[in-house]
Amino acid sequence: MKEEKCTKTKKKFNLLIWSLILLIPVFSYSKSLKKIDSKKMKKEVIKKMKIKKEYFGKTNDGEEVDLFTLTNKNGIMLKITNYGGIITSMMVPDKSGKFDDIVLGFNTLNEYLKGHPYFGAIIGRYANRISKAKFLLNGNKYKLAANNGENHLHGGIKGFDKVLWKAKEIKKDEEIGVKLSYLSKDGEEGYPGNLSIIVTYSLTNNDELKIKYEAETDKTTPVNLTNHSYFNLKGPGVSDTLNHTLTIYANKYTPVDKGLIPTGELKKVKDTPMDFLKPCSIGLRIKEVKGGYDHNFVLNHAKGILSLAARVFEPETGRTMEILTTQPGIQFYSGNFLDGTIKGKNGKQYNKHYGFCLETQHFPDSPNNPNFPSTILKPGEKYIQTTIYKFYTQ
Ligand code: GLA
Repeated sequence: MKEEKCTKTKKKFNLLIWSLILLIPVFSYSKSLKKIDSKKMKKEVIKKMKIKKEYFGKTNDGEEVDLFTLTNKNGIMLKITNYGGIITSMMVPDKSGKFDDIVLGFNTLNEYLKGHPYFGAIIGRYANRISKAKFLLNGNKYKLAANNGENHLHGGIKGFDKVLWKAKEIKKDEEIGVKLSYLSKDGEEGYPGNLSIIVTYSLTNNDELKIKYEAETDKTTPVNLTNHSYFNLKGPGVSDTLNHTLTIYANKYTPVDKGLIPTGELKKVKDTPMDFLKPCSIGLRIKEVKGGYDHNFVLNHAKGILSLAARVFEPETGRTMEILTTQPGIQFYSGNFLDGTIKGKNGKQYNKHYGFCLETQHFPDSPNNPNFPSTILKPGEKYIQTTIYKFYTQ
């Protein structure tokens, strides 16, 4: 009896061993299938991400300009030209899946060459204003190009928005991009030092537009780089943006004088039309702000840490844009100077407030305000800033 039980257990044991042996190839086969599957998927993702380079025209100096079209695996499409590093188009879906272009701009290079209010461009060497176009640094007086009355705005007469950048395409597993580089010569627009700049635009499969700014100099100089895209989450030239809901994570802002130069004060937004700590439509209190919004907000986040700075939501389309940045400030400009004289893409007229900008930056006129975070870059140091625009619908 005992022996019989023993042989039965032995048989069961053998059966188990054999089935395990037989299952090994099945397991390894399915594992290799999975491997092939994930390899295939990766390949498909990479296949779905595309960069196309095409001829965009010639500058007034006869240099050839390119236009890069980047598409991510979800179909989001970004167009960038190496003239001014301009974002000319960004196609993003609404809550029903319909794609629309959400940035202001033109279809052709010629229209950009004729002049425009910095649509989509890289801004530098110093984004925003420098009072009376001058500053003092290490005991030396520097005189910059005055291109905004007596003040210096967005890098001067020929800022980084009007130069031709060298471009290199980038393709990684989950993102594609264009790396732009430019050498701003010692004395350009009045600034000291040869400044070499790299701006990398990337489009990720998480529906983010990432902009990384890097710079190095051979003489001490102020540096403040940003991108000047005008957004309209309904689509450009469709209507104004006053219904967009805006949140800015800033308890303070920098009040300005008549020439839009900061007074040096950091003022609380509480009980003022500058309070966007809770989501608020752009139009709700805009009439209380003389000339409309054109102010720098002092972001609450810790110095240099990539953090959420602002969110914009457009209720009709459900399109939402979040802005994360390492920068200490953000200029909220409500497109006050757009007056309908510019006809943009597809002949659409850009009227007042038809686009808004959220320019991540250091505070305006920092070289003349020692109490503001420093914008001074010394030889041997590296300027690095990152801003991310993330898109989704609600
Ligand atoms: C910036 C400025 C505005 C205006 C626009 C361009 O954002 O702050 O005052 O000059 O650029 O028109």
